[in-house]
Amino acid sequence: MASDRINLLVLEGDGIGPEITQATVDVLRHVDGLFGLGLAFTSGDIGFTSLKTDGTTFTKRVLEAARAADGIVLGPVSHNVYPPVSEGGLNPSGELRKTLDLFANIRPSRTRDGVEAPSRKAFDLVVVRENTEGFYADRSMFMGPGEFMPTPDVALAIRKITRHASLRIAREAFDLAMTRRRKVCVVHKANVLRLSDGLFLEATRDIAKAYPDVEVEEQLVDAMAALLVRDASRYDVIVTTNMYGDILSDEAAELAGGLGLGASLNAGEHHGLAQAAHGSAPTLAGLDTANPAALIGSAAMLLIWLAARTGRPECADAGRAMELALDRTIANPATRTGDLGGALGTKAFTQALIGEIRRV
Ligand code: IPM
Ligand code: MG
Repeated sequence: MASDRINLLVLEGDGIGPEITQATVDVLRHVDGLFGLGLAFTSGDIGFTSLKTDGTTFTKRVLEAARAADGIVLGPVSHNVYPPVSEGGLNPSGELRKTLDLFANIRPSRTRDGVEAPSRKAFDLVVVRENTEGFYADRSMFMGPGEFMPTPDVALAIRKITRHASLRIAREAFDLAMTRRRKVCVVHKANVLRLSDGLFLEATRDIAKAYPDVEVEEQLVDAMAALLVRDASRYDVIVTTNMYGDILSDEAAELAGGLGLGASLNAGEHHGLAQAAHGSAPTLAGLDTANPAALIGSAAMLLIWLAARTGRPECADAGRAMELALDRTIANPATRTGDLGGALGTKAFTQALIGEIRRV
């Protein structure tokens, strides 16, 4: 990082994206002033805005801006209703994960005071999901898609699992567990996918040898889906491959009180990208009703991640202050948004949150 500035690229996305990214930037500007972080913001168009102006939902210009940034705040995208790739319908989230090699998708889920949750017990876990390979057809091949149709009635899909990607995601998970309750649950389906999940398991077992203080268990993904419902409080760090992590992280977020609170960080060697786990909720766009907590929580995770990379501990202080303020604001029924039974709009919630942020 050349200057003492921390350059953040903000990509507002589609639907509620503009409102919740604005809320997130408002909070980041506030903690920037409070903690003297030296944040600098640039923005770029993606999604439908970019499709209209540039004929693609994700331009090379934005990709290069992301490559040059220290961190990225990515608003939700309506990827599901984009035109085909051949007509410019790229998934900005997938493109950024692949090209910036954001191999670790870190998805914390925890119950919060005052927030109704389907889980019978309080829990606090993190899903550490491999982001760059697996069943995802847009990233399982060097060239061409990872799925194809030999006949109009037969579709085949390839799953890619490498030792390299499995080792590094496992290392990420065990390192994280050492900062938490020192428990890792490895989720796989090696009883069916003996070679691909077998390779993943082998890599995680290799990494585990270097962490004798971490308690390790292994679970089949179908059993894990049931065990999370039965007692999510048993779990600390869950490490798994791309598709299983995609599914289990949404389940965990819902068990904790709702996907609308699901924060996430996509992290690689050189870049961190804050991204809410929820979608773009187009029916709520422009109504000032969307809950910005997930993207704000993701931005807090980004600041904490940047602290280690910039040698600026005040970034982590700011991120933790944001997380504490989020808990306090969400715990107070008078300062909740509609999805949590409150009456505040996006802007009013953001102001209430900013009022709760203190130097800890
Ligand atoms: C997520 C989303 C994406 C994924 C979709 C939008 C491609 O579900 O980030 O969890 O499956 O990775
Ligand atoms: Mg998902």
